[in-house]
Amino acid sequence: MFTCNLTDETELRLLEIRHAEALYLLTTSSSAHLREWLPWVDHINHVADSRAFIESGLKQFTHQDGFHAGIWHRGQLAGVIGLHGIHWGNRSTSIGYWIGDRFEGKGLVTMATKALVHHCFDELNLERVEIRVATGNPRSQAIPKRLGFTEEGILRHAEYLYDHYVDHIVYSKLADEHQ
Ligand SMILES: CC(C)(COP(=O)(O)OP(=O)(O)OC[C@H]1O[C@@H](n2cnc3c(N)ncnc32)[C@H](O)[C@@H]1OP(=O)(O)O)[C@@H](O)C(=O)NCCC(=O)NCCS
Repeated sequence: MFTCNLTDETELRLLEIRHAEALYLLTTSSSAHLREWLPWVDHINHVADSRAFIESGLKQFTHQDGFHAGIWHRGQLAGVIGLHGIHWGNRSTSIGYWIGDRFEGKGLVTMATKALVHHCFDELNLERVEIRVATGNPRSQAIPKRLGFTEEGILRHAEYLYDHYVDHIVYSKLADEHQ
């Protein structure tokens, strides 16, 4: 089971079915803040929707294709971080994350991302870790920048968000750039 202590108060823990209600409450209580960049939030209408998300992450974990971990702070579920699948042929993956609005500004996601990057290189022996962020989302861009990722370029109109296309910046780190 994937768990990782970040500080005395903060840890990453694989999301399990029993966390569905906490995840549902966190997602719905932060939906106004999350939905600007995460359109799937509008489809979380019941605890069962959060359970289905957790089940999909557990299936990924079973197949060594990534996972979804909760970011737990002072015993509360604060956010989610995970790997969007693993391409074992290329030994590459990409990281996604979000945090509840009341947990923003504490460095929790930067810490969680740093730990997951270590896990990708030191435990999974991957070659490349990617983070993609919309050009209009500077809070999220700050995370790969703080962690020394390289900005590779822009994918134009990479995502359709509600009623318009947004461009994505691609950030990456390679195994030999990791400490
Ligand atoms: C993007 C998102 C995860 C960033 O959250 P965040 O709280 O700003 O990120 P961090 O947890 O790394 O915290 C960084 C902040 O904590 C501060 N901080 C405090 N202690 C810190 C520490 N030890 N290390 C780093 N930062 C620290 C930083 O100064 C920064 O504050 P600032 O924004 O006032 O400059 C969050 O805004 C979010 O969930 N947004 C909606 C969903 C989303 O956009 N997801 C990403 C899609 S690509």
